Amino acid sequence: MESLHTTDVIVIGSGISGLMTAISLYPRKVTLISKKKLGEASSSAWAQGGIAAAIGNDDSPKIHFEDTIKASSGLSDEKIVKIITDEAASIIKFLEEKGVDFDKDHLKNFLMSQEAAHTRRRVLKVNGDSSGKEIIKTLINNIQKLENITILEDVTIDEIITENNNVIGLIGRHIGKNIVDNFTFFKAPNVVLATGGLGSIYEHTTNPRDIYGEGIAMAARAGAILSDMEFVQFHPTGMDIGLDPTPLLTEALRGDGAKLVDENDNQFMKLVHPSGDLAPRDIVARELQKLKDLGHSTFLDCRKFSEKQLQTLFPSAYNFLKKANIDFTKEKIPVTPVAHYHMGGVLVDENGKSSINGLWACGEVSSTGAHGANRLASNSLLEAFVFGKRIANSINSQVLNNIKDENINFKKYLPKERTSSRIRAKKYIWQLRNIMSDLVGVYRNEQKLKKAFIEIDRIEREAKDLSAKLKDMILVSRLITYSAYLRKESRGAHFRSDYPKSDNKFLFRKKITIIEMQDFLNKREYIEKVA
Ligand code: FUM
Repeated sequence: MESLHTTDVIVIGSGISGLMTAISLYPRKVTLISKKKLGEASSSAWAQGGIAAAIGNDDSPKIHFEDTIKASSGLSDEKIVKIITDEAASIIKFLEEKGVDFDKDHLKNFLMSQEAAHTRRRVLKVNGDSSGKEIIKTLINNIQKLENITILEDVTIDEIITENNNVIGLIGRHIGKNIVDNFTFFKAPNVVLATGGLGSIYEHTTNPRDIYGEGIAMAARAGAILSDMEFVQFHPTGMDIGLDPTPLLTEALRGDGAKLVDENDNQFMKLVHPSGDLAPRDIVARELQKLKDLGHSTFLDCRKFSEKQLQTLFPSAYNFLKKANIDFTKEKIPVTPVAHYHMGGVLVDENGKSSINGLWACGEVSSTGAHGANRLASNSLLEAFVFGKRIANSINSQVLNNIKDENINFKKYLPKERTSSRIRAKKYIWQLRNIMSDLVGVYRNEQKLKKAFIEIDRIEREAKDLSAKLKDMILVSRLITYSAYLRKESRGAHFRSDYPKSDNKFLFRKKITIIEMQDFLNKREYIEKVA
């Protein structure tokens, strides 16, 4: 059964990017699509870090700008970094006006944390390490009062429909219980992707398992230009306690004195970088991975905190540790690098507009140039707020073009295969995750990347009738592998053991399209060279 839904703007995704864009679009007619119930389907709801904003007396947007540029290993876009660092203070004010209750001391001064590669304490939080959850709660309260917004829950989007490089709509499905292949056509001249990142294509991730890059996959199939796809950020301190997804131990713990140690209590980061445990995230993650590959164990030592301190300052970490029966006052906590954030995605300009007219992208699904090769912690929520507002301002300033019904034959876009076995897909999804972690993870090289292409081909062949999710995951995995293969150097989060140094020849953001990648795959060079 099919139905048609018409609106001015569709926002896909209900994390911070989606909610911020939707709120800022007032009074446009907006449909906000959420894969689950509002508030349950995003990485940002799990964000512990907070929002970086240079509002301390010892700080300035210029210093925040410089820290961001330095962390990005030469690949961020200075214009974009200036925009987000300059606009940070006004975003904090906006959020306070909407009701966000940032943590403050008894004199009503903001409490600010220190995270890796920030030279100042500038990360604002809400209820300690529960920032994402609390901010989302407040934004949802605001959204529910806005009559211009229609909220559709339990809906997933499969394809973006374009004609002559203009968006005309989407095909989606209701995925509530007992509803199968209940397709809806969404007609709108503007679509905002706010679908988050792609952590779930890896074996260990801090992202919800629903976050597997579907926004990137849809945009790629529609012909959008992508950028920086090779840059996947691994967070060094995922709690290695057998939970999936992996709970995060926020960097702010190290900012407040927790220590990285090995099985003999050696503080190994002291020997690796002058900033020690607060060295840039990519450097810490690589060191941990190296030690693990050599057979060592790695831990975060939180024994300096009392029960009360951890419970008050880091309630999320505290609850996970309780759940795992770890007495952090006596034991060290096992940690491992985990896929956490993707710097690349759908290429957008300073207003969040992609290369397709009417297609916008906000937050982790986008590639604005704010993060370069390595994101500075807690800049991502800031980027999402700044771009949510900029996208909404751009759309609000347009005279919307109504799409004429007679021009659209939505039915021709319906997928031919409507069924697939979820059980079979699950098996291949896990195989794909293992391949991505082993071969396109923290350490990469040409042999590994070629093997990854071959293994992904095998999965596609064997899985046959691909579920929509597996199809998207395969495409996104290939896009990352392809970009990683092309970048024959090491920079930021992308490390090639066969090219361990940065090379100025590659000092540019690599932009790709699905057609370009397909041409490369069709040549099958990766097979010939391996044989
Ligand atoms: O460690 C953290 O709290 C992570 C923050 C971030 O990824 O922005």
